Amino acid sequence: MVATTPVIDIHDVSRTYGEGPPALADVTLRVRAGEALAVLGPSGSGKSTLLNLIARLDRPTSGSVTVDGLRVDELGEAAAARYRRTRIGMVFQFFNLLDDLTVTDNVLLPAQLAGMARAESRRRAAELLGRLGIDRHADAYPGRLSGGERQRVAVARALMNRPALLLADEPTGALDTASGEDVRDLLTALHADGQTIVLVTHDLSLAEACATRTVELVDGRIVRDVQHPPRSGHTPPHAGHTPHAGQAAGATSPGTSRGAAVAGGGTAGHEGGAR
Ligand SMILES: Nc1ncnc2c1ncn2[C@@H]1O[C@H](COP(=O)(O)OP(=O)(O)OP(=O)(O)O)[C@@H](O)[C@H]1O
Ligand SMILES: [Mg+2]
Repeated sequence: MVATTPVIDIHDVSRTYGEGPPALADVTLRVRAGEALAVLGPSGSGKSTLLNLIARLDRPTSGSVTVDGLRVDELGEAAAARYRRTRIGMVFQFFNLLDDLTVTDNVLLPAQLAGMARAESRRRAAELLGRLGIDRHADAYPGRLSGGERQRVAVARALMNRPALLLADEPTGALDTASGEDVRDLLTALHADGQTIVLVTHDLSLAEACATRTVELVDGRIVRDVQHPPRSGHTPPHAGHTPHAGQAAGATSPGTSRGAAVAGGGTAGHEGGAR
C-alpha cells in the first residue's frame, strides 16, 4: 500500500531551551508509512529532541508536529499520554523495564493501560515473545536476562498495542556486539513486515542494516537526507509477509482485527480518528 498521508509530518519546527542555541532549528521532515528512518548526528545535535517531539514528550517552540494524522504538539498532557499509549511504541538505550514485574507482565503493561481485554492481551504478549525468540523467558524477571534479551522484551512491549510508529533511541547503545546484532536483525525484520520505524543511533552499521533512509542532524539542522535500500542478507524469515498487512506484529495475527485497525488506521485511513 502506498500511503499518501505521511505518518510523521514535521513542519518548520524549532526547539530552544532558555537562552542557548536551538536544539532544533527549522526542521521539516516527512516520514511515510513503512519507512525505516535512521537519525544520525553528533552528540548534542538534536536527535533525542526530535524523537521527544515526535513522542510528544516535549513540545516545539514553534512549528507543528503531526503524527498519524494527529497534531501532537497541540495535545494536552492527558491526550498526549493516550497518544503515546495507543499510537507509538518506544525503545530506549537502557530498556526501561520494570524489574519487579516478569517479562510477560512488562509486555502486558501497555495493553492494560490501554484497556485491552485480558485474554486478548495475554495472547498477544505470548505471540510477541515467541516471535522475538524470548518466550522461554516469559516468566523470568528482567534482571535475569542478557542485555539483548532485555531489549527484545522492550521491543515486545513497544509493539504490544500495534503502534503506527516505532521509535528507538540508541537501542543498541548499551549492548555488546552480538546483542546489538540481534536487535539490528529484529528491527530489520520489523521493517520488512511493514513497521514504520524512526531510529536514533550513533551506530552506522545499525543504520545501514535496517534503515531505508538516513537523516543527519548537525547543530539542530538537517544537513543530509538520503534514501537507500536496505542491505540484503539481513532479511530474516519474517520477511515473507507483504507490507500490506500493515504492521509488524499485526501481520502475524490477522485474527485480531482491533489491532490491525489500530495499526492500519495509522498508515491508511486514520480510522481511529483524532481523539
Ligand atoms: N531539557 C533540556 N534543557 C536544556 N537543554 C537541553 C534539554 N534537552 C536537550 N538540551 C540541549 O539540546 C541540545 C540537543 O540535545 P539532544 O539530547 O537532542 O542531543 P542528541 O543528539 O540526542 O545527543 P546524544 O547523541 O548525546 O544523545 C543539546 O545541546 C542539549 O544540551
Ligand atoms: Mg540523545
